[in-house]
Amino acid sequence: MIRPEGTGVGSLYPQLSSDGEVIRSEATGLGSLYPQLSSDGEMIRPEGTGVGSLYPQLSSDGEVIRPEGTGLGACTLNFPVMESEGEVIRPEGTGLGSLYPQLSSDGEVIRPEATGLGSLYPQLSSDGEVIRPEATGLGACTLNFPVCDAILDEGDSVLTEEFTYACVFNTIIPIGAKSSSVKSDCDGMLPSSLETVLSSWDEQTDGRCPRLMYCCPSAANPTGITWSLARKQEIYKIARTYGILILEDDPYFLIQFAKPRVPSFLSLDTDGRVIRLDTFTKLLSAGARLGYMSRPTDLLERITRHMVTTTCHPGNLSQIFILKVLQHMDHDGFIKHGKKVADFYKQRAQTAVRVAEKYLTGLAEWEVPHGGMFLWIHMLGVQDSSKVVAMAMERGAIFTDGAFFTSAQKPSEYIRMSFSLNSEEELDKAVNILATVIREEQQL
Ligand SMILES: Cc1ncc(COP(=O)(O)O)c(C=O)c1O
Repeated sequence: MIRPEGTGVGSLYPQLSSDGEVIRSEATGLGSLYPQLSSDGEMIRPEGTGVGSLYPQLSSDGEVIRPEGTGLGACTLNFPVMESEGEVIRPEGTGLGSLYPQLSSDGEVIRPEATGLGSLYPQLSSDGEVIRPEATGLGACTLNFPVCDAILDEGDSVLTEEFTYACVFNTIIPIGAKSSSVKSDCDGMLPSSLETVLSSWDEQTDGRCPRLMYCCPSAANPTGITWSLARKQEIYKIARTYGILILEDDPYFLIQFAKPRVPSFLSLDTDGRVIRLDTFTKLLSAGARLGYMSRPTDLLERITRHMVTTTCHPGNLSQIFILKVLQHMDHDGFIKHGKKVADFYKQRAQTAVRVAEKYLTGLAEWEVPHGGMFLWIHMLGVQDSSKVVAMAMERGAIFTDGAFFTSAQKPSEYIRMSFSLNSEEELDKAVNILATVIREEQQL
């Protein structure tokens, strides 16, 4: 019996049999994409987390399975809200199989000749800005790596906000690089802090002066902050002075709540120093694992070589799926869809803030989210957020430890609350638990 223990595409084939024996993947990974796989005629229903919940429509016996529970958050939500021009698209069919018939829509067979989304969507534009994807990847996370790998050497430092999307740390640490943190306020990274870090950089003790800044400037994960235009302009100016490339990882760009949206760094770029990452994760489907990179300038060749020897390109199935959705929506529909997703999360954010005001006033502080799906909570009189997270979890409420979003992963005073999935009632319950736990922790 062959049992793939690891993750990865191998586990896509939980039933591949090499010699008549059934191979059943025990481990995690894409195997869990197939929640309906039944080994002995019995239906397996994933109640918990996992990519399985990406496919609410998967049905193995004619019955439609709609996992209500947890999962990859946005994914379960995004399918039901996926819509164009007010029409809700609910895939009732049989999963990815239904992509195949769509390959040929009107008798004409669509043959994607080139690999990569770039060739499919040469002018994908968000919010009036034309974004020209030059390379694709399995989501923004996967794209971060070839960019960092092309720029960084061992011992290098990457400028990041003090609290930022943890994926960047996981990306640069294996390369042998480290992060150098810069302070922020409610308008984004602080130019004074950036200037201080750079002007006092000592190559003897600190290693080579940073050449790369990583940022998530719209409705940031985890802080919910959107950098203001003035702030972006100031930071860009400093980046020019010190010759720094800006990696703009911007999955929540269309999920900014205020209108007009703050323009991207890419749109301000006059020197070709901005590398922008977009993804369909937050707007269409996280499970499609599809993202794209714009304007990687002269790094493109290195990045492409990296991809050719690693992921090659995102699965064509995913690309066709997204292509068909985008074609169905057309460009304006996609932008409208973005607005609807933003409105949806705005309501959730308002609920989260209401509930925070109800229970946490005097116990914590927070910035009203500018977009996205997170409320970033600064707990007063609490030094170690990991304890609060553990105690809340024992009582049934899940928050993310603020330490997770720092490079040192040291105890912090912050936690992140995601409001993407839960009803007002659930949020109320969770924040009530949090308030009790904070009080207990304050009294220690
Ligand atoms: C800043 C940031 N970048 C990237 C991602 C993930 O994007 P993808 O699913 O395209 O890898 C997320 C969210 O999970 C995120 O918050």
